[in-house]
Amino acid sequence: MPRNVVVTGSGSGIGAALTAILRAQGDRVIGVDLRGGEIDADLSTPAGRTAAASAAGKAAGGVVDAVVTCAGTSVPGTATVTVNYFGTTGFLTALRPALARAERPRAVAIGSISGTQTGDPDVVEACLADDETTALAHAERAVAEGRARQLYPSSKSAVAQWVRRTAVAEGWADAGIPLNVVAPGIVLTPMSADLFEDPEMRKVMDAAVPMPLNGYAQPEDIARAVLFLASEGNSHITGQVLYVDGGAEATLRGPADL
Ligand code: NAI
Repeated sequence: MPRNVVVTGSGSGIGAALTAILRAQGDRVIGVDLRGGEIDADLSTPAGRTAAASAAGKAAGGVVDAVVTCAGTSVPGTATVTVNYFGTTGFLTALRPALARAERPRAVAIGSISGTQTGDPDVVEACLADDETTALAHAERAVAEGRARQLYPSSKSAVAQWVRRTAVAEGWADAGIPLNVVAPGIVLTPMSADLFEDPEMRKVMDAAVPMPLNGYAQPEDIARAVLFLASEGNSHITGQVLYVDGGAEATLRGPADL
């Protein structure tokens, strides 16, 4: 049976690869992106998220079989917090009722290996308290103090923690909705393209994210892992962060950090 799958960030990179695979297997994808998707929306604002979730729910006839949140940005600024964190958690929360109406609903957020790296604890705390105003204030302070690069890892750490907590909270596992994170290492998409232009930056990146298994990933490599977690075949995996990173997380954290 074809499923209704809502994919944010469907216009580029991982979201576009996932959309193509889902469509090729006969599923109906409702793509959400800044422009060019079935639904044009700016997920950096509460109003944009609410409108997008409502339009996506409507387009699916009120029953959403899966939601995958791929929309994200790595531009060192406050958008990493508003899009990567609130654009994920707010959107998933808004679509939870439509997921709960499906027979075998699934939800997947895209995190990052960066979520294991040091961020700004104040930003993470405000995100997890669902306090966007305070999170933005801390993010603006980080930018003003020249610490904007801490915001991306902060947003991804907060996404992973939110998913682990929410997956087993009321309304998710008990409603039959698995909720997981796929956390890539370095993926060859428009987001990472600039980093490869500077050989020095490439060295820094390779040291920060060592990928001994098969090197940098293609967007399809990540999409295939998402595909399983979002499929009916995933009956019992929830609250997990699946690193699809060529061994980066195991290399960096070692065997004891499970
Ligand atoms: P990409 O830049 O190719 O695609 C991101 C998509 O998100 C774009 O279509 C963009 O228009 C959309 N988007 C950005 N801001 C938005 C907004 N305010 N509202 C609606 N849509 C918006 O990037 P990529 O690489 O496919 O990234 C997908 C996810 O994977 C992101 O969450 C990213 O943080 C994550 N990721 C990417 C890695 C990489 O090396 N490329 C590594 C680890 C995680």
